[in-house]
Amino acid sequence: MTKYYINPNVKKGHINKELHGNFSEHLGRCIYEGIYVGEDSDIPNVNGMRKDVVEALKNMELPVLRWPGGCFADEYHWKDGIGPKEQRKKMINTHWGGVIEDNSFGTHEFMELCRQVGCKPYVCGNMGSGTVQEMSEWVEYMTFDGVSPMADKRAENGQKDSWTLDYFGVGNENWGCGGCMTPEYYANEYRRYQTYVRNYHPERKINKIACGPNADDYEWTETLMKIAGRFMDGLSLHYYTIPDDWAKKGSATQFDQDSWYRTLRKTLHMETLLKKHGSIMDKYDSEKKIGLVVDEWGTWFDVEEGTNPGFLYQQNTMRDAMVAAINLNLFQKHCDRVKMANIAQLVNVLQAVILTEGAEMVLTPTYYVFDMYKQHREGELIDSNLCTEQIGSESEMVPNLSECASWKDGKLFITMANLDLQKSYDIEAELADFTVKDCKARILKGKMNAHNTFDTSQQVKTETFDAVQLGGGKVSFTIPPCSVLALTLEK
Ligand code: AHR
Repeated sequence: MTKYYINPNVKKGHINKELHGNFSEHLGRCIYEGIYVGEDSDIPNVNGMRKDVVEALKNMELPVLRWPGGCFADEYHWKDGIGPKEQRKKMINTHWGGVIEDNSFGTHEFMELCRQVGCKPYVCGNMGSGTVQEMSEWVEYMTFDGVSPMADKRAENGQKDSWTLDYFGVGNENWGCGGCMTPEYYANEYRRYQTYVRNYHPERKINKIACGPNADDYEWTETLMKIAGRFMDGLSLHYYTIPDDWAKKGSATQFDQDSWYRTLRKTLHMETLLKKHGSIMDKYDSEKKIGLVVDEWGTWFDVEEGTNPGFLYQQNTMRDAMVAAINLNLFQKHCDRVKMANIAQLVNVLQAVILTEGAEMVLTPTYYVFDMYKQHREGELIDSNLCTEQIGSESEMVPNLSECASWKDGKLFITMANLDLQKSYDIEAELADFTVKDCKARILKGKMNAHNTFDTSQQVKTETFDAVQLGGGKVSFTIPPCSVLALTLEK
């Protein structure tokens, strides 16, 4: 019997709904085809946005979406993406397959997508190849309401009222594709650029996000916090789960048990990153006002055979679901410092929640994890301790279980993942001062490489889970191997 102790009386922090955010880049078939098909498409759409995809994102209650990149952001010139479409400049998407970008999806289209989905926009500005003036004018264009050259231009282009811009990133991966800068150089440039990211509405604050470290580059965090900490609301962190190495990452669907445990071990490295970057941030920001924003995370495998290597199209299995469950549990557990996270990416790219092919769409196992975790959003993290054991192969040991518990509207919400491919575990949860009267539960389970295709789109999906025994202040259940479980408990 595995013991699980939960104390709803001990609240440990607020879980921002933004921890469940997503990211959409002008990369492969994410924006074009995956989201935006244009008004004249045969694929059912509203103002060019695919109806099926928007509906799925609404059901998932996507809270926030990052755009336009990624590496693309630092070569994107926003003025090329406004005004009459036939007059918009075409450009080469040098990072992603060298394809021609026709700029038919720009600022207005992104804001329209957010409106249709009901999510907050997180726009990433171009510091790598753009000017301070260009960045400043974009913010003016999006958010200023009075008479000004940019506000007038926006009105001419059909949008009289300004948009609410919740988050603005000042560059992306400026240590790499965003300009190969040193931390000192970036920190000073950040100070300059962010000065002109004006807040035109005191009641609609733009949260400024500085480019943070690549995985375990702690020196970057130290330098940024020291030089520019007081000018930022958030510092980003990028960390991808790659089972093997960058040269040969491994297949998304054809893998063995060793690769399963290696992938999960590498995913769990996220906890070390959150703790170490968090403690550096604590030195400069003991009140934890600056959020750690994990605005790129997820699996990165070899592309599906026969697809453009620059398009990063990969399938999505129960292994991806497990990676998502572990990471979301970690972000929630560290919600005192982690204020937003955005999985890469929304549709047809890397660890996507949705895949499309022509007019068809499938929801991936990762989609279902986000859907199951919804209840944590805007809840209070509560104290919980699970007695785990180490499993896996000799070189790839991981804990058998991952969990998180939160409290919202008088209800207790638990998510738990069983990382073990063979064994189920009997769990006995003891709840302090909480007599359970009702429990609703859902489960996602399947073989390690189970996935949904356009022919078999219902292979992996959530089911109701009834096998929960209630006994006053105790709850017991058996969690099957390779599964993710979500329980809502009511008094
Ligand atoms: O998500 C794909 C790419 O990964 C992004 O463009 C970049 O920021 C990161 O290296």
